[in-house]
Amino acid sequence: MSKAAACAPAEPGSSEFLDDAVAGLTRSPKILPGKYLWDETGSDLFDQICHAPDYYPTGREMGLLAEAAADVARRIGPEVKVVEFGSGASRKIRTLLDALERPAVYVALDIAGDYLDAAIHRLAPDYPSVVMMPVHADYSKAVELPAGVPGRAVLGFFPGTSIGNFSPEEAGAFLAEARRTLGPSLFLVGADPTRDEDRLRRAYGGADGLMAAFHLNLLARMNRELGADFDLGNFRHGVRICNEPFRVEAHLVARRAATYRLGGRTITFEAGESIRTDTSHKYDPDAFRALAAQNGWSPVALWLDPERSFSLHLFQG
Ligand SMILES: C[S@@+](CC[C@H](N)C(=O)[O-])C[C@H]1O[C@@H](n2cnc3c(N)ncnc32)[C@H](O)[C@@H]1O
Repeated sequence: MSKAAACAPAEPGSSEFLDDAVAGLTRSPKILPGKYLWDETGSDLFDQICHAPDYYPTGREMGLLAEAAADVARRIGPEVKVVEFGSGASRKIRTLLDALERPAVYVALDIAGDYLDAAIHRLAPDYPSVVMMPVHADYSKAVELPAGVPGRAVLGFFPGTSIGNFSPEEAGAFLAEARRTLGPSLFLVGADPTRDEDRLRRAYGGADGLMAAFHLNLLARMNRELGADFDLGNFRHGVRICNEPFRVEAHLVARRAATYRLGGRTITFEAGESIRTDTSHKYDPDAFRALAAQNGWSPVALWLDPERSFSLHLFQG
């Protein structure tokens, strides 16, 4: 039997969602925080995106993880507590749990509570000696880990290029906060150095239409949870590649002028006006190491695929 531990949920409530949505849609340009993409439907869609041939980050990172796992296991030693930020479907963690010597605890931290619980339910039977601790929390804020968790050493894990969803300033703050949360530890972080614009447009603009569905679900979520009346047919998904800093932005663009209701407010769109629904910053490995070093993490090892389309960094803090 796997051991399980409960933890109090700390997901943003619907009033925080409403406040952020109203604030983001009544300013110019319009922005919605990407963390609201991750309800159960969004998480399911993202899992399908990970299998789309054009969405290169998942396959590249899985390849690097398979290369890195034994080295990470040797450096950290036995009976480790692994803490994953944004655990999603908890697939990549299997490579680490398989390589580590007698891993003690897996703390899986995610904003999508039901999806998190289901993922841990699927994972736990395959690792009966590992204490499974799902923690329902928003890692863009301070996170407290459950107290009294066993484990000789701590290994943080932040895969999936999620660090790129923060601006560089926010990423620095996240890294500093993760150092506080994890304490003395090793931290394995995925970062995407891709600059090939065709590859980026295929991955973020297409993925078999799944990317459009993933972003449009944010409007559907506001209709479902906040009583809004957005007409999804009036919006198309598009990507913009921007510089300084280099990043891919996801937008929902209004086809024609319209007004909608949200939380007692009127939200007005001109034709062609867009909402930025997510951003993915792309980090050159040296620049990312420098950012981590400024925020409490010394570089230990780097795995980079030959096409420089993904990087896995191991830090010590
Ligand atoms: C890109 S997916 C990565 C999933 C998985 N780690 C992987 O690499 O395949 C991002 C994950 O982070 C979670 N997430 C996004 N923003 C979050 C936040 N602010 N706090 C906690 N979890 C968040 C999402 O629910 C999702 O499961």
